Amino acid sequence: IFPILYCGLTLTLLLFFDFFFSVVVCYGTQNVLSVTGNTETQYNLMKERYTGCEIVMGNLEITMMEHTRDFSFLQSIREVTGYILFAVNEFSRLPLDHLRVIRGTTLYEDKYALAVMVNYHKDREHGLQELGLTHLTEILEGGVKIIHNKYLSYAPQVNWLDIVKDGTTNIVIEGNGPESDLDFLSVTKTVCAPQCNGRCFGRNPSECCHNECAGGCIGPLDTDCFACRNFNNTGSCVSLCPQTLIYNKHTFKLEPNPNAKYQYGSICVAQCPPNFVVDGSSCVSSCPTDKKEVEKNGVKRCEPCGGLCPKACHGTGSPTRQTVDARNIDSFTNCTKIQGSLHFLVTGIKGDEYNNIPALDPEKLKIFNTVREITDILCIQSWPENMTDLSVFSNLQTIQGRTLYKGYSLLVVRSPSLTSLGLRSLRKINDGGVYITGNKKLCYHDTVNWSRIMNSSSRSQKLKDGRVCDPLCSDGCWGPGPNQCVSCKNYSRGGMCVPDCMFMTGKRREFATRSGECMPCHPECKVQEGKETCTGPGADQCVTCARKQDGPHCVSSCPDGVMGGEGLIFKYPNKQGHCEPCHINCTQG
Ligand SMILES: *[C@@H]1O[C@H](CO)[C@@H](O)[C@H](O)[C@H]1NC(C)=O
Ligand SMILES: *[C@@H]1O[C@H](CO)[C@@H](O)[C@H](O)[C@H]1NC(C)=O
Ligand SMILES: *[C@@H]1O[C@H](CO)[C@@H](O)[C@H](O)[C@H]1NC(C)=O
Ligand SMILES: *[C@@H]1O[C@H](CO)[C@@H](O)[C@H](O)[C@H]1NC(C)=O
Ligand SMILES: *[C@@H]1O[C@H](CO)[C@@H](O)[C@H](O)[C@H]1NC(C)=O
Repeated sequence: IFPILYCGLTLTLLLFFDFFFSVVVCYGTQNVLSVTGNTETQYNLMKERYTGCEIVMGNLEITMMEHTRDFSFLQSIREVTGYILFAVNEFSRLPLDHLRVIRGTTLYEDKYALAVMVNYHKDREHGLQELGLTHLTEILEGGVKIIHNKYLSYAPQVNWLDIVKDGTTNIVIEGNGPESDLDFLSVTKTVCAPQCNGRCFGRNPSECCHNECAGGCIGPLDTDCFACRNFNNTGSCVSLCPQTLIYNKHTFKLEPNPNAKYQYGSICVAQCPPNFVVDGSSCVSSCPTDKKEVEKNGVKRCEPCGGLCPKACHGTGSPTRQTVDARNIDSFTNCTKIQGSLHFLVTGIKGDEYNNIPALDPEKLKIFNTVREITDILCIQSWPENMTDLSVFSNLQTIQGRTLYKGYSLLVVRSPSLTSLGLRSLRKINDGGVYITGNKKLCYHDTVNWSRIMNSSSRSQKLKDGRVCDPLCSDGCWGPGPNQCVSCKNYSRGGMCVPDCMFMTGKRREFATRSGECMPCHPECKVQEGKETCTGPGADQCVTCARKQDGPHCVSSCPDGVMGGEGLIFKYPNKQGHCEPCHINCTQG
């Protein structure tokens, strides 16, 4: 178990991987040249941020600092994941003597991983004299810009091409001080044997660094690197952190790996730091927009929403927000749940001259298509003249009725344009009655078996004058057609009542869920003639496989180099198309 300490005040995280290793990580900045506050404050913030820090996540930016400032607190930095910017400073040397790698995951001016610019004072004789990057051996992305540092004695023997990624052309060195002979690098790409891929610890072909090393090494192993090209897994440089899923030989499935680690910058961690969430195999500060944060067994993860992510919005009914109107309708974009009520009053639909609010564009009401739940009531006292139903609420499933209006939770009154309700997803009114009156052309609502939807004790008032529901409906309907049924007589598919599922006909075959919904068989099932193709949605619920079979599962191809408990797993298909493990002496399938 690896405890994580969090020192909130200093923005520094101490990650104890085990008893022997620890890495101090801190967060960089993104100010570029815009600095707020005086230099004293700036300096103190920087000192707090970087003291003891070994890996800067983000950019290291130092700008407009006087010659008297002491920057020895930068000594501990070994890696910067973004870029380094030094500009308009007056101090003479940068003590970044332990810096090995700049990763360049973000670049200055979209080009440079290292930018050192205009570091001298116009009138006084202060300025940068020495770069001090004595151990910098690798810039993984981006170029170098060192310009107009009047006193900087640059070292012509520094071969930047040797440090940057092969093929990088953005190297700009100009307007600096006189040349000088400063010690810089010892073992560079150019002295390595050609077999070495550019990094070595001696000139012999046997003295290459491990492929996963960045910036050089002291020996041939993945534990001998100065820095890691990809990830540091408790001291070893690896191309991937231990994956979250591994192949289980007994169940023939990818399963959660109890020893999984997550990518956190260039480090593999067993747990993401506080305030970070697991997204796939990485630690992220917030989930991407199509995923939501869920907590399982104390671990926060991003999981796909499967459609729109839940979003709760405030409703109407307060004195300052009496009705949905042209001014506030945009605030309902992407809402899935209305915390409160929705009111549609004539001052909202037709506009309110007195308060200078224009009429509502009926098209805009489609925004409510995403609403699945209203916690209080839905009250419609006015509706656009040319809209004949409430189908903008066709995804509304629940009206909770936590707070009622005179005992009612669904009110539709005096809306002469309505011919049907069209609330085809409404399944539950938890509390309160239904009040529908004065809608001259409204039909179908009295075919609805309201007692199925409401708690039986609730009142409801209905108009007479029904119409006949589609023959595929049971329990009434919200309007004409088989997609407006309260429930289906036989089967349903995507909200539409159908006489039968495609059990034995059609190109795509189906099975029926317990509730009578037709669902597609897994795409790896082989379509059967004269009998059903599958018994459920899974790849292990096919009658026969379309391609290959691994254990009980139909698969497109046999496992070929997937991570298993003890290394990679390779299988081949036998004559029957069943996947069999390759002989243990095979390594690559
Ligand atoms: C990898 O991380 C460990 C701490 O877990 C550290 O001691 C070591 O120096 C790091 N190695 C490299 C190559 O960055
Ligand atoms: C609404 O959701 C869509 C799709 O997820 C997204 O592209 C859009 O930016 C969202 N709009 C707002 C205002 O949240
Ligand atoms: C309803 O009328 C408005 C103008 O009053 C028009 O912009 C809109 O397109 C009409 N909508 C329908 C569904 O006919
Ligand atoms: C309505 O029914 C639901 C269950 O269907 C129940 O949880 C709720 O308490 C009921 N409310 C009232 C007021 O009876
Ligand atoms: C309405 O639904 C209830 C409960 O599901 C049921 O008991 C009742 O028979 C139904 N009424 C009609 C007229 O179908």
